[in-house]
Amino acid sequence: MKMDRKLSVNDADHLVLGGVDAVGLAQKYGTPLYVMEEDTIRAAMRAYRDSIDRFYDGKGLICYASKAFSCKEMYRIAKSEGLGADVVSGGELYTALSVGFPMENVCFHGNNKSDDEIRMALENRVGRIVVDNIEELGRISVLADELDMIQPIMFRIKPGIDAHTHNFIMTGQIDSKFGFALETGEAMAAVKQAIENPSVRLVGVHCHIGSQIHEVTPFVKAAEVMVQFMGDVKKETGYEIEELNLGGGYGIRYTDEDDPVPYAEYMEAVSGAIHKKAEEVGIRVPFILMEPGRSIVGEAGTTLYTVGSVKQIPGIRTYVSIDGGMGDNPRYILYQSKYDFLLANKAGAPADTVVTVAGKCCESGDLLGENVPLAKAEAGDIMAVLSTGAYNYSMASNYNRNPVPPVVMVQDGSDRLIVRGQTYEDLCHNDI
Ligand code: LLP
Repeated sequence: MKMDRKLSVNDADHLVLGGVDAVGLAQKYGTPLYVMEEDTIRAAMRAYRDSIDRFYDGKGLICYASKAFSCKEMYRIAKSEGLGADVVSGGELYTALSVGFPMENVCFHGNNKSDDEIRMALENRVGRIVVDNIEELGRISVLADELDMIQPIMFRIKPGIDAHTHNFIMTGQIDSKFGFALETGEAMAAVKQAIENPSVRLVGVHCHIGSQIHEVTPFVKAAEVMVQFMGDVKKETGYEIEELNLGGGYGIRYTDEDDPVPYAEYMEAVSGAIHKKAEEVGIRVPFILMEPGRSIVGEAGTTLYTVGSVKQIPGIRTYVSIDGGMGDNPRYILYQSKYDFLLANKAGAPADTVVTVAGKCCESGDLLGENVPLAKAEAGDIMAVLSTGAYNYSMASNYNRNPVPPVVMVQDGSDRLIVRGQTYEDLCHNDI
């Protein structure tokens, strides 16, 4: 198998995840099955937290971007590691609330929050609402007035940075549905309105330039643009914005084609740029927030499937069909995302065939990968797809009325169910 990543394989030639035999997990819980390795998640959280200590004298907060993988246990883990959370809907907020997540450490995002969502955030004293547009500022201020409170806010700014990633997940450029533009003066006008508005307190500015980014430069440039803007605000209004939220977007390793930069390198470069620019424009070094999602959970996840059929079309290709697909992992059909595949019950066997991995949905595009190197597959094999911890479970759907699979957490040789799989009854639960 051509794969640089270190895999753990036992004497039975089975893939081992978090000290647990993956084939045993498939037998115990059934397939498809999402498996998450807790140590990997916690290690990533600690690496981020440590970088705040190292490069910002501890003056910062890492908010786990829970859209990457949201369930009660994830908010519990983030809380226990001292992280905050980025939530982007009433549903994520509700899930965080349900496990007593500290609301002062929550950033509430969204480019079109409903009044109900805003009220929910206000009533629960969410620490920061990241305001996307001027209408939203108006709605927050009306609702804050009603509740007789002053809501801390940040503004989402488009720093005008083109990060090299898939168009669908690129967000920092002016042609984006998210946030206020700098070039047009829209952001400065919004800041002036907020400063005058007694129902909100403008604590910070935010940017998020995109996702699965492997270069340091776009992050450094975005940080410079943001600090420059904070300096401009101070110059024009005398108001000093205290906080800078740099969003998420750090790339992970899906296949050997990816070469992620260690977080500490990002942090060091970005921190250097912020310190230098802050001095240049005459503001204090801001309190830093960051919102990593994919890089906290992505590599911690593996999805297990059972191979059902192997269809060889001579001279064309070989389809290996598995019992899941775009319902539990829509990333190939959406972004042509690449993954590493292996057979968990023959983990050491050489990957000497090239196949197309097909899902079970009624859709020709329902594939998980093409030109995939794989050991010779047969019906009944357990296929493992690696690095599926981010934006898989959280983007799952019930297309074709396939139930969303369960999620199991593994650590130090033990496994525990953290999300039950849906049943057919669940699928009909809301039907009338
Ligand atoms: N902060 C904000 C405001 C965001 O919009 C996002 C992601 C993040 C943080 C976290 O970014 P991360 O560290 O995970 O890259 N479904 C796509 C990814 C969409 C990302 C949306 N926003 C995928 O599967 O690749």
